[in-house]
Amino acid sequence: MSDSISRVVVITGGSRGIGRSIALKFSEENPKIVIIHYDEDESDSEKTLNELSLRGLKAVSYRIDVSFFDAMDKLFGNIISEFGRIDVLINNAGIIRDKLLMLLSEEDWDRVLRVNLQGVFNCTKAAIRSMIRQKKGHIVNISSVVGQIGNIGQANYCASKAGIMGFTKSIAREVAGRGINVNAVAPGFIDTGMTAALPEKVREKFRQQIPKGRFGRPEDIAEAVYWLCSDAAGYITGQIIHVNGGLYM
Ligand SMILES: NC(=O)c1ccc[n+]([C@@H]2O[C@H](COP(=O)([O-])OP(=O)(O)OC[C@H]3O[C@@H](n4cnc5c(N)ncnc54)[C@H](O)[C@@H]3O)[C@@H](O)[C@H]2O)c1
Repeated sequence: MSDSISRVVVITGGSRGIGRSIALKFSEENPKIVIIHYDEDESDSEKTLNELSLRGLKAVSYRIDVSFFDAMDKLFGNIISEFGRIDVLINNAGIIRDKLLMLLSEEDWDRVLRVNLQGVFNCTKAAIRSMIRQKKGHIVNISSVVGQIGNIGQANYCASKAGIMGFTKSIAREVAGRGINVNAVAPGFIDTGMTAALPEKVREKFRQQIPKGRFGRPEDIAEAVYWLCSDAAGYITGQIIHVNGGLYM
């Protein structure tokens, strides 16, 4: 991509899993990568930074909670001061706190909505100033297939991921005329730390429902995200791209 050299790419949740794969995919074009995560320690983010460094990239990582508006406003202000611009924002940070509604506490509801949905609002609002000035930018929000079809025990998570779909379409309409594309990718069942904790019996039940017969890999999501941020996808905005092996059609 001719005009993508040294794009400034911010990836929330970029320390591991899908976010790490997205960072590694972007490394192919030699960008400046900023990772935001909220892991207990820096081991996963250091691993990602090392992998990027082996590919000749000097990336930076911040351990900070995306759910705080003021903190994100300040962080993105610092990123813009340091790098001069933000070209790509991938809102990928997400958590689960699965429980049946009867057992779901207000705190479980609030925390998942705050990280998964308000986090997307906080980062988008903070990044979009730079994109509007540049008259160019790409935002990809990571939703989920269950935001579309629902799932038992995930009312908080599904609500947050469905919220991301509505947010994506609204902002896409608001900024389409300013050269900014806003899309969402809705992964199906992807092999990461988030899904590793499930018992094998549950994983097998999910596997049987996937026409492609396997779970997705983080790279499957990274490919779609990267393509959405390329010139080839320039006429695509406000879309939810499902990457799920046929689980939902
Ligand atoms: N794995 C799947 O099957 C699957 C399916 C559909 C959607 N998703 C979505 O994809 C995204 C990535 O999932 P994953 O499987 O790679 O998860 P993961 O648990 O492996 O990684 C989550 C990332 O989000 C970061 N994060 C969590 N809370 C944060 C906070 N408050 N502030 C900043 N960063 C925070 C973590 O530090 C980590 O970097 C999530 O939004 C998830 O909901 C995953």
